Amino acid sequence: MGTPGNSLLRVDDLSVRFAVPEGEVSAVNGVSFALEKGQTFGIVGESGSGKSQSMLALMGLLSGNGSAGGHAWFRGEDLLAMPPQKLNKIRGNRIAMIFQDPMTALNPYLTVERQMTEVLELHKGLTRRSARTLAIQTLEAVSIPDAARRITMYPHEFSGGMRQRIMIAMALLCQPDLLIADEPTTALDVTVQAQTMQLMRDLQREYGTAIILITHDLGVVAGLCDQVMVMYGGRIMEEGSAESIFYRPTHPYTRGLLDAIPRLDQGGAPLVAIPGQPPNMLRLPAGCPFSERCTFVLPHCATDMPPLVAAGDVLRACHRDPADVVEFRSPEAIA
Ligand SMILES: Nc1ncnc2c1ncn2[C@@H]1O[C@H](COP(=O)(O)OP(=O)(O)OP(=O)(O)O)[C@@H](O)[C@H]1O
Ligand code: SF4
Ligand SMILES: [Mg+2]
Repeated sequence: MGTPGNSLLRVDDLSVRFAVPEGEVSAVNGVSFALEKGQTFGIVGESGSGKSQSMLALMGLLSGNGSAGGHAWFRGEDLLAMPPQKLNKIRGNRIAMIFQDPMTALNPYLTVERQMTEVLELHKGLTRRSARTLAIQTLEAVSIPDAARRITMYPHEFSGGMRQRIMIAMALLCQPDLLIADEPTTALDVTVQAQTMQLMRDLQREYGTAIILITHDLGVVAGLCDQVMVMYGGRIMEEGSAESIFYRPTHPYTRGLLDAIPRLDQGGAPLVAIPGQPPNMLRLPAGCPFSERCTFVLPHCATDMPPLVAAGDVLRACHRDPADVVEFRSPEAIA
């Protein structure tokens, strides 16, 4: 702990707090993980579990009432201890982020050309002319037809799916080492979603970019990610290889999430949402945040925080024995 290590990114004991009139929101608590070059790391969990704020904290983009603790070593330097100017330089150059809504990332008043060349002039010192050539090539790489002509258009002149691809092209312009994608396909229809994910996979192969993918879609995570982190109430519930997490889940919360997706091997049976509500982040229980909803709950779960410990090849935070919880699922069960 506390040293950079050799990973592309190593997050140690990340916490995020927000000051609110009622007190303090503990949005992220003790999150640690490592990501290697070219890997894909999935973060899943219900709404409000702390997925986005963890990533915004790394990028120095928390809102004014927020503060982050811990370390985030990126290529040997701590993002959380860096002067804003230096972090600014890394953001958009070595680390890029894409969001659910492309219009939050694209400027409606500038042509796609201007937005793309500006980034290259600023971060890579290219001339306008060579920036334009590279921008067109990148748009072609994300399959924007007739890119040389369309680059002069404004964001609103493109379809939603194309805007998403333009945003990905913008994120990849500087060939970042790390792409953070926060629900990048939620707003798209299923066909465009699949195309976008395929595109990210192809680009990763070509450029060797590491990806952190935040999504509600467990099927996408199963198909794309090497490692997965399951979050609830701002904490890690379970973390490990996508294979272990999806095909041999040993955490009650992970099982609940998996039960909530249609099972293709059972004729696409309907969703079984986890009963109950996510916890109030202002007043988290002293013990396991999932204790109020857990069907495996033990008497001491609400008062004793389960530590995150190794169990086989995963890390899990749960008082129950993995053997009591484990469920074996076939790969076909996940779309
Ligand atoms: N500025 C803020 N002030 C107070 N609380 C905040 C602020 N921003 C976020 N939060 C809280 O932090 C917690 C974590 O939010 P976060 O956005 O990380 O959730 P998420 O897992 O990304 O959810 P979703 O899937 O809905 O995007 C939530 O309880 C949220 O209400
Ligand atoms: S620690 Fe207890 S309440 Fe939490 S997930 Fe495990 S069994 Fe359920
Ligand atoms: Mg979010």
